[in-house]
Amino acid sequence: MICAVLFDLDGVLVDTNALHFLAWKELADHLGIPFTPEQGNRCRGISRMASLEIVLEQADRTYTQAEKEQFAAEKNRRYQSMLEDLTPGHTTPGAGSVLQELKRRGYRLALASGSKNAALILARTGLDRWLDAVADGTLITRSKPDPEVFLTAAGLLGVPPQQCAGVDDALAGIQAAKSAGMMTVAFGEAALHRAGEHNIQTLEELLPLFPFLEATP
Ligand code: BG6
Ligand code: MG
Repeated sequence: MICAVLFDLDGVLVDTNALHFLAWKELADHLGIPFTPEQGNRCRGISRMASLEIVLEQADRTYTQAEKEQFAAEKNRRYQSMLEDLTPGHTTPGAGSVLQELKRRGYRLALASGSKNAALILARTGLDRWLDAVADGTLITRSKPDPEVFLTAAGLLGVPPQQCAGVDDALAGIQAAKSAGMMTVAFGEAALHRAGEHNIQTLEELLPLFPFLEATP
């Protein structure tokens, strides 16, 4: 029986994917490297450094590790300055009310995100109040599609992975939740690929999947 729901952040609870794309595009423009929306889409769910490798695909020279670290830091500065404008109004439609309703139905809720900016985003949007645990990029060493972040979230909740569902908008995220042995719910882009056991386009569609849990006597 499923009793915990683990949420990805970027592209599921908050539409930050567009901001990630803009920040990478600014960096690519600055370096004089073409960067397309298709490449931006492939950055979904994967780590900052893995995303940078996609950004540099069309570069006509190679870069040292030190230069790459400097580029990733530069992108993050641009991204964080965009996050300064983030408010509770920037959450995905239904995010707050669906999390609140799942809690009312008895589910434990956690974040399972590879982002190192998750705490900032949760605080600025007010989503942190609904979550019982937060597993993010600061707690893990292997990013999605590795299951580590989903397993870490389940561990923080103290719920076995088989009793957890993972909700993610990236193919890498759905693969991570699947490898963790969890029920998978693909949202948005990943749902278009029918990547999950369940595939949804709005967060409200989660509610029929998670009925009230019986109170334990
Ligand atoms: C994931 C995003 O949630 O976090 C990726 O989908 C991003 O696009 C990754 O690269 C790391 O995020 P951050 O905020 O630590 O750069
Ligand atoms: Mg995502």
